[in-house]
Amino acid sequence: GAPVTQSLAKIESGQMLTVSWRSLPVFVLNRSKAQLATLPMVDSRLVDPKSDGASADQQPKYAQNEARSIKPEWLVVIGICTHLGCVPDFVPEIKPEPFDPEWKGGFYCPCHKSRYDLAGRVYQGVPAPKNLPVPPYHFIDDSTIQIG
Ligand code: FES
Repeated sequence: GAPVTQSLAKIESGQMLTVSWRSLPVFVLNRSKAQLATLPMVDSRLVDPKSDGASADQQPKYAQNEARSIKPEWLVVIGICTHLGCVPDFVPEIKPEPFDPEWKGGFYCPCHKSRYDLAGRVYQGVPAPKNLPVPPYHFIDDSTIQIG
């Protein structure tokens, strides 16, 4: 499939846009400082917080870091649950029940209740085995990315 170019100019802090690439939904999230601050808080609850174990194949090398991104604020992940392929919902912040008290927001798969954090990292104790995949992408300029 052809690469897709996407402007980031209209995605406000804390908001997400879904871009279609190779018929896949790609989530492009502009993480706020508060959202980024949740990442280290949930490490101990995750299957593979550094993406160097089960999820070592789930991102390009340049996105194998805590934020799983090139620029910390911009998360780019394929929105396909690594369990059986449903599209998770974006949950920008802490929610009450049925979510765990330590849930700091991220992505919630309605099919079998898998949870991912705001870097697409999968929580322990859910059916999904791996972090959400990061597609190949790069910045064309400060406010434009190319996916693929
Ligand atoms: Fe997402 Fe099963 S497809 S939890």
